[in-house]
Amino acid sequence: MQIVVIASRKGGVGKTTLSAHLAVAAGQAHPGKVAILDFDPQGSLTWWAQHRNEGNPRFDSITEDALTSHLAELRKAGFDYVFIDTPPVEAPWVSKLISRADLVIIPTRASPLDIQAVGTTMLAAQHAHTNMVWVLNGISSRSHIADAVAAELKRFAPLAPTYVHERTDYVMAMGQGRTVLETKPSSTSAREIREVWKFISTRLHKA
Ligand SMILES: Nc1ncnc2c1ncn2[C@@H]1O[C@H](COP(=O)(O)OP(=O)(O)O)[C@@H](O)[C@H]1O
Ligand SMILES: [Mg+2]
Repeated sequence: MQIVVIASRKGGVGKTTLSAHLAVAAGQAHPGKVAILDFDPQGSLTWWAQHRNEGNPRFDSITEDALTSHLAELRKAGFDYVFIDTPPVEAPWVSKLISRADLVIIPTRASPLDIQAVGTTMLAAQHAHTNMVWVLNGISSRSHIADAVAAELKRFAPLAPTYVHERTDYVMAMGQGRTVLETKPSSTSAREIREVWKFISTRLHKA
């Protein structure tokens, strides 16, 4: 079972949105084999799952003391992938989780203030010798800065070649306990999520 942790010390970069979307993309490719955990006490993903009302991917909200036994249970039950959404804090229990992960996904927006904040999460992954990738999220189609930011990020770790753009599709879908893969399966949004998952899955098989 491969553990994918979505982390960033910065809030609002799309951790919860991407956790949900990538877990659903993985769940559509591997029905019954994907779990998603909310490790953020704020509970945004838990709210999403409560409005979702379906079992693929399997959802659980989890605290640090229950994590080890819960992961063992998922492994025993035959799950292949578990996605874990995390809070925007630099706490020892987040670092510990990063060290247990097969892959850390660090979402970031393409602004100087966001880029300034990604360093600590990157260092936590490097310190733990955990593979990491960047995903650029919330990119405006009129933005000229994304490619420059992408080039900078790629100096440190692989970057998903597809950017996740700023679209109300994502906000609307999350508000219904769903993802764009379900609300608009033929849209450009759904296509970009499937492409990001495809990239993530290649990184996992190398992990
Ligand atoms: N690609 C996107 N397009 C439009 N809105 C987005 C996108 N990604 C995230 N958002 C919105 O930005 C806000 C923060 O996203 P969220 O996933 O909760 O980030 P985090 O978990 O990192 O705090 C939410 O209101 C969410 O709906
Ligand atoms: Mg969140």
